[in-house]
Amino acid sequence: MIPASVYDYRELARKRLPRFLFEYVDGGAFSESTLRRNESDFKELILRQRVLRDISNVDTGCTLFSDELSMPLVLAPVGIAGLNARRGETLAAQAAEEKGVPFCLSTVSACSVEEVRAATASPFWFQLYMIKDRGFLQEMLTRAKEAGCQKLVFTVDMPVPSTRYRDIRSGLSGGSALRRQSARFLQSMIKPAWAWDVGVCGRPHSLGNVAHVLGKRAGIDEFWSWMAKNFDPSVTWKTLEQIRESWDGPLIIKGILDAEDANEARALGADGVIVSNHGGRQLDGASSSIKALPAIAERVAGDMTVLLDSGIRSGLDVVRAKALGADAVLIGRAWVYALAARKKQGVCEVLDILKNEMRVAMALAGCASLSDVTEEILLREKV
Ligand SMILES: Cc1cc2nc3c(=O)[nH]c(=O)nc-3n(C[C@H](O)[C@H](O)[C@H](O)COP(=O)(O)O)c2cc1C
Repeated sequence: MIPASVYDYRELARKRLPRFLFEYVDGGAFSESTLRRNESDFKELILRQRVLRDISNVDTGCTLFSDELSMPLVLAPVGIAGLNARRGETLAAQAAEEKGVPFCLSTVSACSVEEVRAATASPFWFQLYMIKDRGFLQEMLTRAKEAGCQKLVFTVDMPVPSTRYRDIRSGLSGGSALRRQSARFLQSMIKPAWAWDVGVCGRPHSLGNVAHVLGKRAGIDEFWSWMAKNFDPSVTWKTLEQIRESWDGPLIIKGILDAEDANEARALGADGVIVSNHGGRQLDGASSSIKALPAIAERVAGDMTVLLDSGIRSGLDVVRAKALGADAVLIGRAWVYALAARKKQGVCEVLDILKNEMRVAMALAGCASLSDVTEEILLREKV
Protein backbone atom coordinates (compact mmCIF):
# COMPACT_ATOMS: atom_id res chain seq x y z
CA MET A 1 0.00 0.00 0.00
CA ILE A 2 1.17 3.52 -0.77
CA PRO A 3 0.06 5.43 2.34
CA ALA A 4 -2.07 8.49 1.67
CA SER A 5 -3.48 9.37 5.10
CA VAL A 6 -2.64 9.09 8.79
CA TYR A 7 -4.92 6.04 8.97
CA ASP A 8 -2.81 4.30 6.30
CA TYR A 9 0.30 4.82 8.43
CA ARG A 10 -1.59 3.34 11.36
CA GLU A 11 -2.23 0.24 9.29
CA LEU A 12 1.43 -0.01 8.26
CA ALA A 13 2.47 0.44 11.91
CA ARG A 14 0.09 -2.34 12.96
CA LYS A 15 1.75 -4.68 10.47
CA ARG A 16 5.32 -3.78 11.44
CA LEU A 17 5.23 -3.49 15.23
CA PRO A 18 5.07 -6.30 17.78
CA ARG A 19 1.61 -6.41 19.28
CA PHE A 20 2.55 -5.03 22.71
CA LEU A 21 4.04 -1.91 21.14
CA PHE A 22 1.24 -1.27 18.65
CA GLU A 23 -1.41 -1.67 21.37
CA TYR A 24 0.55 0.65 23.66
CA VAL A 25 0.57 3.39 21.02
CA ASP A 26 -2.92 2.83 19.66
CA GLY A 27 -4.85 2.11 22.84
CA GLY A 28 -6.64 4.25 25.39
CA ALA A 29 -7.97 3.99 28.94
CA PHE A 30 -10.69 1.55 30.02
CA SER A 31 -13.46 1.23 27.43
CA GLU A 32 -11.74 3.84 25.21
CA SER A 33 -14.88 5.96 24.92
CA THR A 34 -12.91 9.21 25.22
CA LEU A 35 -10.37 7.95 22.70
CA ARG A 36 -13.18 7.38 20.19
CA ARG A 37 -14.89 10.68 21.02
CA ASN A 38 -11.63 12.57 20.45
CA GLU A 39 -11.82 11.58 16.81
CA SER A 40 -15.57 11.50 16.20
CA ASP A 41 -16.24 14.95 17.74
CA PHE A 42 -13.88 16.47 15.18
CA LYS A 43 -15.80 14.84 12.35
CA GLU A 44 -19.06 16.30 13.72
CA LEU A 45 -17.83 19.84 13.08
CA ILE A 46 -19.14 20.84 9.68
CA LEU A 47 -16.99 23.11 7.54
CA ARG A 48 -18.60 25.76 5.37
CA GLN A 49 -17.66 25.45 1.71
CA ARG A 50 -16.97 28.94 0.29
CA VAL A 51 -16.19 29.85 -3.32
CA LEU A 52 -14.60 32.57 -5.48
CA ARG A 53 -12.45 34.16 -2.78
CA ASP A 54 -8.96 34.24 -4.41
CA ILE A 55 -7.18 31.46 -2.64
CA SER A 56 -4.26 31.34 -5.11
CA ASN A 57 -1.78 31.70 -2.24
CA VAL A 58 -2.78 29.74 0.84
CA ASP A 59 -0.35 30.23 3.70
CA THR A 60 -0.32 27.71 6.56
CA GLY A 61 2.59 29.43 8.33
CA CYS A 62 2.31 30.95 11.80
CA THR A 63 4.27 32.31 14.74
CA LEU A 64 4.21 30.37 18.00
CA PHE A 65 6.10 31.59 21.08
CA SER A 66 8.05 33.89 18.72
CA ASP A 67 9.10 31.00 16.44
CA GLU A 68 8.13 30.88 12.79
CA LEU A 69 6.47 27.55 11.91
CA SER A 70 5.45 26.11 8.55
CA MET A 71 2.09 25.21 10.10
CA PRO A 72 0.51 25.43 13.57
CA LEU A 73 1.55 21.97 14.70
CA VAL A 74 3.94 20.40 17.20
CA LEU A 75 5.02 16.76 17.63
CA ALA A 76 3.60 15.81 21.04
CA PRO A 77 5.70 14.11 23.73
CA VAL A 78 5.26 10.35 23.49
CA GLY A 79 6.87 7.99 26.01
CA ILE A 80 9.18 5.30 24.62
CA ALA A 81 8.40 6.48 21.08
CA GLY A 82 12.01 5.67 20.35
CA LEU A 83 11.19 1.97 20.35
CA ASN A 84 9.05 2.34 17.23
CA ALA A 85 12.15 2.72 15.06
CA ARG A 86 15.87 2.59 15.78
CA ARG A 87 16.74 5.60 18.02
CA GLY A 88 13.28 6.83 17.03
CA GLU A 89 13.08 10.15 18.84
CA THR A 90 16.21 11.42 17.07
CA LEU A 91 14.60 10.55 13.71
CA ALA A 92 11.31 12.27 14.55
CA ALA A 93 13.12 15.36 15.84
CA GLN A 94 15.11 15.55 12.60
CA ALA A 95 11.92 15.17 10.53
CA ALA A 96 10.21 17.94 12.52
CA GLU A 97 13.23 20.17 12.04
CA GLU A 98 13.24 19.53 8.29
CA LYS A 99 9.54 20.34 8.02
CA GLY A 100 9.65 23.50 10.13
CA VAL A 101 7.67 22.43 13.20
CA PRO A 102 8.77 21.82 16.82
CA PHE A 103 9.41 18.40 18.33
CA CYS A 104 8.67 17.82 22.02
CA LEU A 105 10.68 15.15 23.83
CA SER A 106 9.01 13.14 26.62
CA THR A 107 10.63 12.70 30.03
CA VAL A 108 10.30 8.95 29.47
CA SER A 109 11.81 8.80 26.00
CA ALA A 110 14.16 6.08 24.79
CA CYS A 111 16.71 8.68 23.65
CA SER A 112 18.02 11.18 26.18
CA VAL A 113 17.85 14.96 25.78
CA GLU A 114 21.57 14.92 25.03
CA GLU A 115 21.17 12.31 22.26
CA VAL A 116 18.36 14.28 20.59
CA ARG A 117 20.36 17.49 20.97
CA ALA A 118 23.35 15.89 19.24
CA ALA A 119 21.15 14.71 16.34
CA THR A 120 19.51 18.09 15.65
CA ALA A 121 20.46 21.71 15.05
CA SER A 122 17.35 23.58 16.19
CA PRO A 123 16.02 23.70 19.75
CA PHE A 124 13.31 21.20 20.62
CA TRP A 125 10.71 21.32 23.39
CA PHE A 126 10.97 19.24 26.54
CA GLN A 127 8.11 17.65 28.53
CA LEU A 128 8.31 16.95 32.23
CA TYR A 129 6.12 15.05 34.66
CA MET A 130 6.02 15.88 38.37
CA ILE A 131 8.36 13.20 39.69
CA LYS A 132 8.47 12.40 43.41
CA ASP A 133 12.24 12.56 43.36
CA ARG A 134 12.59 16.37 43.29
CA GLY A 135 16.37 16.07 42.90
CA PHE A 136 15.82 14.20 39.63
CA LEU A 137 13.28 16.84 38.60
CA GLN A 138 15.70 19.73 39.11
CA GLU A 139 18.49 17.82 37.41
CA MET A 140 16.19 17.19 34.42
CA LEU A 141 15.39 20.90 34.16
CA THR A 142 19.09 21.70 34.10
CA ARG A 143 19.82 19.01 31.51
CA ALA A 144 16.99 20.25 29.29
CA LYS A 145 18.28 23.83 29.54
CA GLU A 146 21.81 22.72 28.75
CA ALA A 147 20.51 20.79 25.74
CA GLY A 148 19.07 24.08 24.45
CA CYS A 149 15.39 23.41 25.17
CA GLN A 150 13.55 26.69 25.62
CA LYS A 151 9.94 25.53 25.94
CA LEU A 152 8.93 23.40 28.89
CA VAL A 153 5.74 21.38 28.67
CA PHE A 154 4.59 20.36 32.12
CA THR A 155 2.11 17.49 32.06
CA VAL A 156 -0.48 17.56 34.83
CA ASP A 157 -3.08 14.99 33.78
CA MET A 158 -1.17 11.95 34.99
CA PRO A 159 -1.01 12.14 38.80
CA VAL A 160 -1.68 8.40 38.65
CA PRO A 161 -1.36 6.20 35.58
CA SER A 162 -4.71 5.03 34.25
CA THR A 163 -5.64 1.47 33.31
CA ARG A 164 -5.27 0.39 29.73
CA TYR A 165 -6.82 -2.99 29.09
CA ARG A 166 -4.89 -3.50 25.86
CA ASP A 167 -1.54 -3.19 27.69
CA ILE A 168 -2.61 -5.81 30.19
CA ARG A 169 -3.79 -8.22 27.49
CA SER A 170 -0.71 -7.77 25.31
CA GLY A 171 1.72 -8.51 28.14
CA LEU A 172 3.09 -4.99 28.43
CA SER A 173 1.82 -4.43 31.92
CA GLY A 174 -0.22 -7.46 32.95
CA GLY A 175 0.51 -10.91 34.39
CA SER A 176 3.71 -12.22 35.96
CA ALA A 177 7.14 -10.98 34.87
CA LEU A 178 7.75 -14.33 33.15
CA ARG A 179 4.48 -14.13 31.20
CA ARG A 180 5.11 -10.53 30.21
CA GLN A 181 8.62 -11.21 29.04
CA SER A 182 7.75 -14.34 27.08
CA ALA A 183 4.72 -12.65 25.47
CA ARG A 184 6.84 -9.70 24.37
CA PHE A 185 9.62 -11.97 23.11
CA LEU A 186 7.24 -14.10 21.03
CA GLN A 187 5.43 -11.06 19.63
CA SER A 188 8.79 -9.55 18.64
CA MET A 189 10.00 -12.72 16.93
CA ILE A 190 7.13 -12.65 14.44
CA LYS A 191 7.98 -9.10 13.43
CA PRO A 192 11.54 -9.66 12.10
CA ALA A 193 11.96 -6.26 10.43
CA TRP A 194 11.22 -4.49 13.73
CA ALA A 195 13.18 -7.07 15.76
CA TRP A 196 16.28 -6.43 13.66
CA ASP A 197 15.95 -2.64 13.37
CA VAL A 198 15.05 -1.91 16.99
CA GLY A 199 15.51 -5.14 18.97
CA VAL A 200 19.04 -5.86 17.72
CA CYS A 201 20.39 -2.61 16.24
CA GLY A 202 18.47 -0.14 18.38
CA ARG A 203 20.12 -0.70 21.74
CA PRO A 204 20.13 0.47 24.48
CA HIS A 205 16.40 0.00 25.14
CA SER A 206 16.47 2.05 28.30
CA LEU A 207 14.71 5.31 29.11
CA GLY A 208 17.51 7.66 28.11
CA ASN A 209 16.77 10.37 30.68
CA VAL A 210 16.32 7.97 33.57
CA ALA A 211 18.90 5.28 32.79
CA HIS A 212 21.49 6.66 35.21
CA VAL A 213 19.02 6.38 38.10
CA LEU A 214 18.23 2.73 37.43
CA GLY A 215 21.44 1.41 36.01
CA LYS A 216 22.22 0.28 32.47
CA ARG A 217 20.86 -3.24 32.91
CA ALA A 218 17.33 -2.21 33.79
CA GLY A 219 14.73 -3.54 31.35
CA ILE A 220 11.27 -2.36 30.35
CA ASP A 221 9.67 -3.85 33.50
CA GLU A 222 12.04 -1.95 35.81
CA PHE A 223 11.33 1.30 33.98
CA TRP A 224 7.61 0.63 34.12
CA SER A 225 7.65 0.18 37.87
CA TRP A 226 9.92 3.22 38.32
CA MET A 227 7.37 5.31 36.43
CA ALA A 228 4.44 3.92 38.39
CA LYS A 229 6.21 4.62 41.70
CA ASN A 230 7.46 8.06 40.76
CA PHE A 231 4.36 9.87 39.58
CA ASP A 232 3.40 12.24 42.36
CA PRO A 233 -0.32 12.32 43.18
CA SER A 234 0.17 14.94 45.92
CA VAL A 235 0.97 17.74 43.47
CA THR A 236 -1.06 20.97 43.60
CA TRP A 237 -0.88 24.31 41.79
CA LYS A 238 1.25 25.49 44.72
CA THR A 239 3.87 22.83 43.94
CA LEU A 240 4.08 24.09 40.39
CA GLU A 241 5.20 27.51 41.58
CA GLN A 242 8.68 26.07 42.10
CA ILE A 243 8.76 24.93 38.50
CA ARG A 244 7.61 28.35 37.31
CA GLU A 245 10.36 29.97 39.36
CA SER A 246 13.11 27.71 38.09
CA TRP A 247 12.18 27.87 34.37
CA ASP A 248 12.71 31.22 32.69
CA GLY A 249 11.46 30.22 29.23
CA PRO A 250 7.88 29.59 28.12
CA LEU A 251 6.06 27.19 30.46
CA ILE A 252 3.15 25.29 28.93
CA ILE A 253 0.75 23.31 31.11
CA LYS A 254 -0.43 20.14 29.36
CA GLY A 255 -3.60 18.26 30.23
CA ILE A 256 -6.15 21.03 30.81
CA LEU A 257 -9.77 20.14 30.07
CA ASP A 258 -11.62 22.62 32.26
CA ALA A 259 -11.80 26.42 32.03
CA GLU A 260 -11.30 26.73 35.83
CA ASP A 261 -8.00 24.87 35.53
CA ALA A 262 -6.94 27.05 32.61
CA ASN A 263 -7.59 29.99 34.88
CA GLU A 264 -5.30 28.45 37.55
CA ALA A 265 -2.59 28.00 34.92
CA ARG A 266 -2.88 31.68 34.03
CA ALA A 267 -2.65 32.64 37.72
CA LEU A 268 0.51 30.51 37.99
CA GLY A 269 2.08 32.62 35.25
CA ALA A 270 2.15 29.88 32.64
CA ASP A 271 2.62 31.02 29.06
CA GLY A 272 0.34 28.44 27.51
CA VAL A 273 -2.00 25.55 28.09
CA ILE A 274 -2.53 22.38 26.12
CA VAL A 275 -6.18 21.38 26.06
CA SER A 276 -5.71 17.63 26.24
CA ASN A 277 -7.04 14.41 27.70
CA HIS A 278 -3.74 12.66 27.00
CA GLY A 279 -5.13 11.16 23.81
CA GLY A 280 -7.90 9.37 25.70
CA ARG A 281 -5.33 7.51 27.79
CA GLN A 282 -6.23 8.83 31.25
CA LEU A 283 -9.81 9.64 32.35
CA ASP A 284 -12.06 7.53 30.18
CA GLY A 285 -15.47 9.18 30.00
CA ALA A 286 -13.96 12.68 29.97
CA SER A 287 -14.90 15.15 27.26
CA SER A 288 -13.05 15.17 23.96
CA SER A 289 -10.47 17.94 23.77
CA ILE A 290 -12.21 19.66 20.87
CA LYS A 291 -15.47 19.90 22.85
CA ALA A 292 -13.58 21.38 25.82
CA LEU A 293 -11.69 23.91 23.71
CA PRO A 294 -14.20 26.76 23.16
CA ALA A 295 -14.86 27.40 26.87
CA ILE A 296 -11.14 27.36 27.65
CA ALA A 297 -10.24 29.61 24.74
CA GLU A 298 -12.96 32.01 25.77
CA ARG A 299 -11.58 32.19 29.30
CA VAL A 300 -7.83 32.62 28.67
CA ALA A 301 -7.13 33.42 25.00
CA GLY A 302 -5.30 36.69 24.68
CA ASP A 303 -3.49 36.14 27.98
CA MET A 304 -2.01 32.75 27.10
CA THR A 305 -1.27 30.60 24.09
CA VAL A 306 -3.93 27.92 23.71
CA LEU A 307 -2.84 24.63 22.20
CA LEU A 308 -4.90 21.47 21.72
CA ASP A 309 -4.20 17.81 21.20
CA SER A 310 -6.06 14.48 21.24
CA GLY A 311 -7.75 13.19 18.11
CA ILE A 312 -5.97 15.10 15.34
CA ARG A 313 -5.83 12.73 12.38
CA SER A 314 -5.89 15.11 9.42
CA GLY A 315 -5.18 18.64 8.32
CA LEU A 316 -8.93 19.23 8.38
CA ASP A 317 -8.87 18.60 12.13
CA VAL A 318 -6.07 21.18 12.52
CA VAL A 319 -8.24 23.71 10.70
CA ARG A 320 -11.27 22.86 12.87
CA ALA A 321 -9.22 23.26 16.07
CA LYS A 322 -7.89 26.56 14.83
CA ALA A 323 -11.44 27.71 14.05
CA LEU A 324 -12.52 26.97 17.62
CA GLY A 325 -9.71 28.96 19.19
CA ALA A 326 -6.52 26.88 19.25
CA ASP A 327 -3.35 28.74 18.31
CA ALA A 328 -1.77 25.43 17.31
CA VAL A 329 -2.21 21.69 17.82
CA LEU A 330 -0.05 18.75 18.83
CA ILE A 331 -0.14 15.34 17.22
CA GLY A 332 0.74 12.18 19.15
CA ARG A 333 -0.22 8.92 17.50
CA ALA A 334 -0.09 10.39 13.99
CA TRP A 335 3.67 10.89 14.07
CA VAL A 336 4.35 7.67 15.95
CA TYR A 337 2.43 5.53 13.43
CA ALA A 338 4.48 7.20 10.69
CA LEU A 339 7.76 6.61 12.53
CA ALA A 340 6.91 2.94 13.04
CA ALA A 341 5.85 2.53 9.42
CA ARG A 342 8.66 4.31 7.57
CA LYS A 343 11.08 5.81 10.08
CA LYS A 344 12.18 9.41 9.53
CA GLN A 345 10.81 9.43 5.99
CA GLY A 346 7.41 8.40 7.33
CA VAL A 347 7.30 11.32 9.76
CA CYS A 348 8.30 13.73 6.97
CA GLU A 349 5.57 12.26 4.76
CA VAL A 350 2.86 12.56 7.42
CA LEU A 351 3.84 16.17 8.09
CA ASP A 352 3.57 16.86 4.34
CA ILE A 353 0.19 15.14 4.22
CA LEU A 354 -1.18 17.15 7.15
CA LYS A 355 0.10 20.39 5.69
CA ASN A 356 -1.40 19.64 2.29
CA GLU A 357 -4.73 18.66 3.86
CA MET A 358 -4.71 21.92 5.78
CA ARG A 359 -3.94 23.89 2.65
CA VAL A 360 -6.79 22.25 0.71
CA ALA A 361 -9.26 22.64 3.58
CA MET A 362 -8.36 26.30 3.98
CA ALA A 363 -8.65 26.92 0.24
CA LEU A 364 -12.07 25.26 -0.06
CA ALA A 365 -13.31 27.09 3.02
CA GLY A 366 -12.16 30.34 1.41
CA CYS A 367 -9.23 31.09 3.76
CA ALA A 368 -5.94 32.38 2.37
CA SER A 369 -4.23 32.60 5.75
CA LEU A 370 -4.70 31.33 9.29
CA SER A 371 -6.13 34.68 10.37
CA ASP A 372 -9.14 33.86 8.15
CA VAL A 373 -9.69 30.59 10.02
CA THR A 374 -12.23 31.59 12.63
CA GLU A 375 -15.48 30.18 13.97
CA GLU A 376 -17.09 31.68 10.86
CA ILE A 377 -15.82 28.76 8.78
CA LEU A 378 -17.93 26.28 10.76
CA LEU A 379 -21.67 25.78 10.39
CA ARG A 380 -23.12 27.38 13.51
CA GLU A 381 -25.66 24.76 14.52
CA LYS A 382 -22.86 22.20 14.97
CA VAL A 383 -20.55 24.42 17.02
C1 LIG B 1 1.96 6.00 23.27
C2 LIG B 1 1.76 7.32 23.91
C3 LIG B 1 2.63 7.75 24.90
C4 LIG B 1 2.48 9.02 25.46
N1 LIG B 1 3.41 9.47 26.36
C5 LIG B 1 3.32 10.73 26.83
C6 LIG B 1 4.33 11.26 27.66
O1 LIG B 1 5.33 10.61 27.94
N2 LIG B 1 4.15 12.51 28.15
C7 LIG B 1 3.05 13.28 27.84
O2 LIG B 1 2.94 14.41 28.31
N3 LIG B 1 2.10 12.80 27.03
C8 LIG B 1 2.21 11.56 26.50
N4 LIG B 1 1.26 11.09 25.64
C9 LIG B 1 0.14 11.97 25.24
C10 LIG B 1 0.52 12.80 24.01
O3 LIG B 1 1.48 13.77 24.33
C11 LIG B 1 -0.70 13.51 23.43
O4 LIG B 1 -1.34 14.22 24.45
C12 LIG B 1 -1.68 12.55 22.78
O5 LIG B 1 -1.01 11.53 22.08
C13 LIG B 1 -2.55 13.33 21.79
O6 LIG B 1 -3.53 12.51 21.25
P1 LIG B 1 -3.41 11.82 19.81
O7 LIG B 1 -2.51 10.64 19.98
O8 LIG B 1 -4.82 11.45 19.51
O9 LIG B 1 -2.83 12.84 18.85
C14 LIG B 1 1.41 9.84 25.05
C15 LIG B 1 0.54 9.41 24.05
C16 LIG B 1 0.72 8.18 23.47
C17 LIG B 1 -0.21 7.76 22.35
